[in-house]
Amino acid sequence: MKWIVNNKKDVKAHTPLLSKKNLCEVKTFHESFEQYKKTPLVKLDGLANFLGLSNIFVKDESFRFGLNSFKVLGASYAIGKHLAQKLDKDISELPFSLLKSEKVKSDLGDLTFVATTDGNHGRGVAWMAKQLGYKCIVYMPKGSTQNRLNNIAEFGADVSITDWNYDDAVRFTAKQASKNGWEVIQDTAWEGYTEIPKWIMKGYSTLAQEAIEQLHGTVPTHVFLQAGVGAFASVIASVFVSTFEKNPPKIIIVEPEKADCFYRSCKAGKIEAVTGEMNTIMAGLACGEPNPMGWDILKYCADVFVSVPDWVTARGMRVLGNPLKGDNRIISGESGAVTAGLLSISSKDKYKDLRETLKLDKNSNVLLISTEGNTDPKVYRNITWDGDYQSLI
Ligand SMILES: Cc1ncc(COP(=O)(O)O)c(C=O)c1O
Repeated sequence: MKWIVNNKKDVKAHTPLLSKKNLCEVKTFHESFEQYKKTPLVKLDGLANFLGLSNIFVKDESFRFGLNSFKVLGASYAIGKHLAQKLDKDISELPFSLLKSEKVKSDLGDLTFVATTDGNHGRGVAWMAKQLGYKCIVYMPKGSTQNRLNNIAEFGADVSITDWNYDDAVRFTAKQASKNGWEVIQDTAWEGYTEIPKWIMKGYSTLAQEAIEQLHGTVPTHVFLQAGVGAFASVIASVFVSTFEKNPPKIIIVEPEKADCFYRSCKAGKIEAVTGEMNTIMAGLACGEPNPMGWDILKYCADVFVSVPDWVTARGMRVLGNPLKGDNRIISGESGAVTAGLLSISSKDKYKDLRETLKLDKNSNVLLISTEGNTDPKVYRNITWDGDYQSLI
């Protein structure tokens, strides 16, 4: 395990991704869905006491829209914004009921959405396409599991597993889309493609807004965020740093060591990619190229970048799934539990340096986000029952 303190941190240099009006617009859009319900913010007092911390809160995104992960927040808002733009309307005029109406459909004609995914983002795009009655094509990177493919196919999308890693599959998707006139709904940005990824990032802000309300005035001192391309971590960091601007929480970014592009970028002082196969059980975090908009935020807002081996998230899944007396159980998947795994070892003598670097102590109010539930039951069982995570990659 490795970590690096971000010497370039400068929250004043950071421009918040969303204004107060923007935040409100995103949340109002999500609230217009009949499936909308705040996901639980679970307080783990037993674990906080065990680790010598004041409070631990875990936002449990396995309950999001019945889809087992937060990702649909981004896909739905970006598709909503995209369609609003096509109709020359403001998204505030297009609540979900209207967006899925026959009138909107006949105004827009046939559309096909396309995305690359390791599972959760594509599921969100496929779900939204089905709700609105459009076609959806999804490409998955090499090594994606059949269960994750099935989770997407369930919503009528045409899904296939490619021979490439995530970043190359994204490039393939963009090429196919331009050849066939499809709408790319991708959660990472590249030169000339920034609008939709920015809307996806903004869409995730709903969960941060909910968490702040559910904290009922408790000010978080530490927010731990897992990163793949960093769209999720950066927008959540941006919302927390700008909401608590007088006393911003420490932002700790956690990545699999096989795909630790933010850790490397912090070290290099500029964007650094990881290439080739990224063999990690944290499928949602197996991305080698930082989203440039994400890097622009995290380079100013993050305190520490941590690069961890797979056993850390395997431990997190077991810790959350087997709570201490009085704590609620949280079902968290491989990409959801890594921050809990890291926190859970921080009281061990062996990780004293890490605890000191993160400044974790009896006054710490820690927020974690379990970004997915049990998204692949076979993998979840292998890890939590058999302690087997090596054979999965
Ligand atoms: C469950 C889960 N958590 C976290 C992430 C990371 O999000 P990002 O790629 O924006 O860093 C993903 C990405 O797919 C995910 O599926």
